[in-house]
Amino acid sequence: MCGICGAIGNENQISTVVAGLKKLDYRGYDSSGVAYLQTPQNQLCVQKSVGSVKNLQKKLEKNAFSNVVIGHTRWATHGNVCEKNAHPHVSSSGRFAIVHNGIVENFESLKQRMSCDFYSDTDTEVFVNLIENQTGNTLQKLQKASTLIKGSFAVALLEVGIDKIFLAKRSSPLMVAFDHRGCVAASDISAFAGRFDCCWILNDNEFAVLEKDKVTFFDQKLKKISIKPIKIDEYDFAEENLQEDSFMLKEIKEQPVVLRNTYFKYFAEIQNLDWEKLKKFHAFHFVACGTAYHSCLMGARFLKQFCKKNATCDIASEFRYDNNIFVKNCLYIFVSQSGETADTIACANLVKQKGLPTMCVTNVPYCTLNNLADYVLPTFAGKEIAVASTKAYTAQVFTLLVFALRLANLDCQEILKKFVLNLQTTQDLDSVFKQIEKFKKIFFVGREQDFVTALEGALKLKEIAYIGCIGIAAGELKHGTLALVDDETLIVAISTQKSLKEKMESNMLEIKARGGKILLVSQFKHDIDVDFLIKLPDFEEFLMPIVSIIPLQHLALHFCQSLGYNPDKPRNLAKSVTVE
Ligand code: AGP
Repeated sequence: MCGICGAIGNENQISTVVAGLKKLDYRGYDSSGVAYLQTPQNQLCVQKSVGSVKNLQKKLEKNAFSNVVIGHTRWATHGNVCEKNAHPHVSSSGRFAIVHNGIVENFESLKQRMSCDFYSDTDTEVFVNLIENQTGNTLQKLQKASTLIKGSFAVALLEVGIDKIFLAKRSSPLMVAFDHRGCVAASDISAFAGRFDCCWILNDNEFAVLEKDKVTFFDQKLKKISIKPIKIDEYDFAEENLQEDSFMLKEIKEQPVVLRNTYFKYFAEIQNLDWEKLKKFHAFHFVACGTAYHSCLMGARFLKQFCKKNATCDIASEFRYDNNIFVKNCLYIFVSQSGETADTIACANLVKQKGLPTMCVTNVPYCTLNNLADYVLPTFAGKEIAVASTKAYTAQVFTLLVFALRLANLDCQEILKKFVLNLQTTQDLDSVFKQIEKFKKIFFVGREQDFVTALEGALKLKEIAYIGCIGIAAGELKHGTLALVDDETLIVAISTQKSLKEKMESNMLEIKARGGKILLVSQFKHDIDVDFLIKLPDFEEFLMPIVSIIPLQHLALHFCQSLGYNPDKPRNLAKSVTVE
């Protein structure tokens, strides 16, 4: 993952880069650092710090001044979290400094062939020394080194004595913006924070050279090229306005508004889709990671239920190395909040190479997946900051639901409208949560659509409260997991489907017989005694996946905060997983 930022101009660029890194820290917050050519001596200075960019800011000298700065915020892949492994990395002679997002897969074999000393455990230090070892000018060295690298990279490079920033990109996002004050490069648009009207997004194997008053783009053979600018308009930069005690709570509470926006914008948005062509697909195959994969499971259910079409799902990291049977007449759908998830992008590329049609469902405009796919279905969740996805998930589920309904020619607009206007997220659940917070062994169970909610509920709890829980199909319990159930086990049983109510009751009785405690999440009255209850508001069954996940998001948040953790930045994770 990681975020990179670089800036060059006539003013002091250190604050520009630090501000950019703060916007990018959702990509990793293990450590951060900057390298700059100190003005006027033109000496290379590097400052690094473990933890958030605020720690780096405290270390930076108040009077530090530089016109040419690169910076990095890290999610550790190679080497543990410490200052030594934090970027930027400097070549052994001290001439070059680099920041890198991506992975050099062949770094071990490259390292073995190099004679210089290494100070960190990172693949990036190999990259910068590889650059130094090449012949030619700086750009040629960077290009030659890039061809020797296996893996992914978005890099910004500085060389002592040269007032330029050099960029290279393959499979990791990188973009540039400039105005009369100078040029800024970054991993994503959020680092531009309202300053620019448009930006230039580099394609794979392209290079750029940033100077104070211009940017020049090059193709892989270093031939000058022009890239079309992308207009930056509707993007939401307002994430600082936090009135809740966490972004996660803010985002949970925003869900009714998000769904309203989706409802009102969606029907206009989808007018442009070629529905006649879409209807001709015989099958749909979804691919995604994490929470987005759970949305896919819901999306596939909707397509089977309403369109009677064959719909299947794969986890991206599995799909990309599987012996897939690619079928014509199948639409491959890639779901991703960020649109930058490395595994999902690799799968989209794989499908494209086969010449098959692709659609993506993304929340971030101008993301890599949008550039790749034949059809783009945006979600309107607005910027999601908390690492644990909440409003993006419900926006994805709702979007895929409306997509399936439209494809099936079912007019449910009134039902959907009533739903988005009446959905609430502020049920008082504190007394229930207080009673269950002692449990450390928790399983989430459900059938069919409630099984998907169980998977997502469990993911939320494990990622922010660090409780080892799983989501499981209720009918699968007795095939193994029931062995773990005792009187210290809490089972969160989700039951929102009338036709499966009695089946769920049988499963709950099995749990009770083993001493397990039950928290039932349902809109129905069930004919068995449960230990704890979250009564859901009653909407059409196909809308209940959205209704039922909301209390589970609150539940995870309650556990997380009662244990004293920060829900927005869980350990070991990052918002955008741009490495494999
Ligand atoms: C969700 O809570 C997670 N943090 C994670 O599983 C996430 O959904 C996954 O990494 C996929 O991200 P994407 O939607 O940006 O592709």
